[in-house]
Amino acid sequence: MTAKDKLYIFDTTLRDGEQSPGASMTRDEKIRIAKMLEKMRVDIIEAGFAIASKGDFESIQAIAQAVKDSTICSLARAVPGDIERAAEAIKPANSGRIHTFIATSPIHMQYKLKMEPPKVLEQAVAAVKLARNHTDDVEFSLEDASRSEFEFMCKIIEAVIDAGARTINLPDTVGYGEPGEYGAMFGRLINAIPNADKAIFSTHCHNDLGLAVANSLAAVMHGARQVECTINGLGERAGNAALEEIAMAVRTRQDMMPVHTDLDVSHIVPTSRLVSSITGFAVQPNKAIVGANAFAHESGIHQDGVLKHRETYEIMRAEDVGWNTNKLVLGKHSGRAAVKARFEALGITFDNPEALSAAFERFKDLADKKHEIFDEDLQALVSDVKPQSVPETYKLGDLEIVCKTGQQPTAKLSLKIDGAVQQAEATGSGPVDATYKAIESLVKSNATLKLYSVNAITQGTDSQGDVTVRLEKGGQIVNGVGADTDIVTASAKAYLHALNLLAAPERSHPQREGI
Ligand code: KIV
Ligand code: ZN
Repeated sequence: MTAKDKLYIFDTTLRDGEQSPGASMTRDEKIRIAKMLEKMRVDIIEAGFAIASKGDFESIQAIAQAVKDSTICSLARAVPGDIERAAEAIKPANSGRIHTFIATSPIHMQYKLKMEPPKVLEQAVAAVKLARNHTDDVEFSLEDASRSEFEFMCKIIEAVIDAGARTINLPDTVGYGEPGEYGAMFGRLINAIPNADKAIFSTHCHNDLGLAVANSLAAVMHGARQVECTINGLGERAGNAALEEIAMAVRTRQDMMPVHTDLDVSHIVPTSRLVSSITGFAVQPNKAIVGANAFAHESGIHQDGVLKHRETYEIMRAEDVGWNTNKLVLGKHSGRAAVKARFEALGITFDNPEALSAAFERFKDLADKKHEIFDEDLQALVSDVKPQSVPETYKLGDLEIVCKTGQQPTAKLSLKIDGAVQQAEATGSGPVDATYKAIESLVKSNATLKLYSVNAITQGTDSQGDVTVRLEKGGQIVNGVGADTDIVTASAKAYLHALNLLAAPERSHPQREGI
C-alpha cells in the first residue's frame, strides 16, 4: 500500500454533531471528547464553528491547547469575519485547519444566498486566499454539492485549488444522495478537474435516507481520501455518517476498499459511551458496532456456529472495537490516587484539587451504594456534574417517594431555586411522574417533555440508571442527563439539568442563517 492510500478521518462530532438539537456540550465535555478522539488517532477534529458563539470560540481554543496529535479545525463561512475568528481560535494548535464553505447548488444560491454563481465563485476564492494567510491547511466545502451542477463544481473546485485549498469537501448536505450517483460524482470530478491531484477529496454525508455511510464508502471507492463523520452518527436531523461504521467497514472489507486509516479502533466503544453519556443521546441496542446487541448472538444456530468456528457468523471481533474492556476498576476501599489515575486513563482531568475532591466524594457516595465501580460509572459521575457548564438555577435538595400497591405514588421534595429553598409535594401515575409534577409546581417552566428514557449504565440490579430528558420550549430543544442508583433521583437530576439548560443563554448557528 502506498501513502496515497491513507484514508483521513475527520471527526465532526463537536461541530456538526453538536448541531443536533439538544446535543450542545460544554467546553470541558468537548475537551474530554477531543482527547478521546486524539487517543483514537483521529486525523482531524473539527472542534467547532468559531464565529457561532463565544463558547464555541473558547472551546476550539481550549481543544487546540489540549490536543497535540490531531489537527484542530474550525468551520467558517466564506466571509472575512468568520475566517479571522477561525484563525484566531486554532492559533494554539500544533496543526490547525480552517474549513471554509459556501453553497453551490442552484436552490441554495438562488434562495438562501441570493447570489449569482460568478459571485459565489469569487467569494469562495477570496475566502480560501484569506484563510491561506493564516494556515497552509485550508479545506473548502461546496455546501449541497450533491445537488450542484457538475460544470459549476468543476470551475469552483479548480479555482479554489489554485487559490490554495488542500482539501475539497463535497457534502451531501441534505442527505439526498444515492451511493451509485454520489460515488460517481467524485470519480467524474477528480477526472475532469486538471489540478485535482493537488487536493484530497473529502466526503461528508447526512443520513436523511439512511445512506450516509453507504454514500461515504461509495465516495471512497471513487477516490475520496477523507471521510467526515461523527461518533454514533450524531448530527443534524438524522445525523452524519457514523465514524465507527466507516472505520470498521474499511477494515473489514479491505478487498473492496484499498485504503487504510490510522485509527486505533479499540477506543471506539468507550468513545461512543462517552459521547452518549455527555449528550444524552442513547445508542440504540441494534446500532452497528456500538449497540449493546451488535455482537450478541441470541439464536441457537448462530451460537452453535460461533462456538464451533467464530467466523461462521462473526465478521469482526467485539474485543477489537473495545467491547469487554469494561474492567472492574474500583470499589469502596479505593483511595484518591487510584480514583484520580482511573479518571485520567479515561481522559478526565480536574482543573484544581477542589474539583478532584468533589469528584472523589461523589465516588465514595456511589461506592457506598454500589459494590463495583466500572469505567461507565466514572464517566456518568462526571457527566452528571455540570459545574462550569450550566449555571445551577435549580438544584435538587431532598427527595422522598412513597409508593404503595394500589395507591398513587407521592413525591415530596425540596429545590434550591436561585439559592432559596422551596418545598413541594405532588402525586402522579408513577414515582417519576409525581416527582416531575412536584418540580413543575415550583418551576412552572411550561416546557414540553419530548423524551424520557432510562438505561442501565452497567449490568446488574445495582447499576446506576442513566436518564435522558428532552424538553422543548419556544423552539429551543435541550437534553438533560442524570445518573444515580436510584432511578427516581436520576430522573429528577436529568429534569433539573434540562431546566437549567433552558435557563442558560442559547447559541446561534450561522450555518442556518446563510451569509
Ligand atoms: O452538511 C454540510 O454541508 C456541512 C458543511 C458546512 C460542511 O456541514
Ligand atoms: Zn453537515
